[in-house]
Amino acid sequence: MINSKELLEFFKNRRSIRRYQDKPIPDEEIKMILEAGRWTPSASNKQPWMFIVIKNKEKIKKLTESAIYGKFIDKAPVVIAIVGKINENPNWYIQDTSLASMNMILMAFSLGIGTCWIGSMDREKAKENLGLGKDDFLLTVLPLGYIKGSIPKPTLRKSLDQITREIN
Ligand SMILES: Cc1cc2nc3c(=O)[nH]c(=O)nc-3n(C[C@H](O)[C@H](O)[C@H](O)COP(=O)(O)O)c2cc1C
Repeated sequence: MINSKELLEFFKNRRSIRRYQDKPIPDEEIKMILEAGRWTPSASNKQPWMFIVIKNKEKIKKLTESAIYGKFIDKAPVVIAIVGKINENPNWYIQDTSLASMNMILMAFSLGIGTCWIGSMDREKAKENLGLGKDDFLLTVLPLGYIKGSIPKPTLRKSLDQITREIN
C-alpha cells in the first residue's frame, strides 16, 4: 500500500502547470497516464470515456484556437482530450470523465509532467476540430509537458473549518 502521509503531501504539492519544456514525452509515460484514466471508477462500471491523444503540432495549434484561458496549450508536446460518451452513461458521464481526468492529472504530475484542466474553451469549435459527434461530450483537454521552470507556489485553499462540519 502507498504511504498515506506521502500521498497527502503529493496531493498538496500538485499544481496546475502552464509552462512546458519543448521535449517529447516517451510513449511509455503517455501510456501510464492513459492507464490511470482506464482504471478510474465509473458509475455501474460503464467507463463512458474516450481519450484522444494529440501529438501533431499543427493539430495542437488548431485546438489552441478554441482555448480561451488556455492559449498555453500550444507549447505542450502532447494534448489529451477527455471525451464522455453520453449514451454510454447518460446520468453519470460528467462525473465519470471528471474522475478519469483527475487520475490522469495525478499520474502525470508523479512523472514530472505538468498539466492543467482547460475548461475555458469554445467546446463546439474544439469538438469540430477533433471530429467529435453529437454523442460526445468534450469535458476538457489536458496539455501535457515536462514542467518548465519551478513548480508554482501552493494556491490558496479554504481551511478545513470552513468546509467541514460534524453532525452528531
Ligand atoms: C473544472 C476546472 C476548469 C479549469 N479551467 C481552467 C482553464 O480554463 N484554464 C486554466 O489555466 N486553468 C484552469 N483550471 C485550473 C484551476 O485554475 C486550478 O486548478 C486552480 O486555480 C487551483 O490551482 P492548482 O491546480 O495549482 O492547485 C481549471 C480547473 C478545473 C478543476
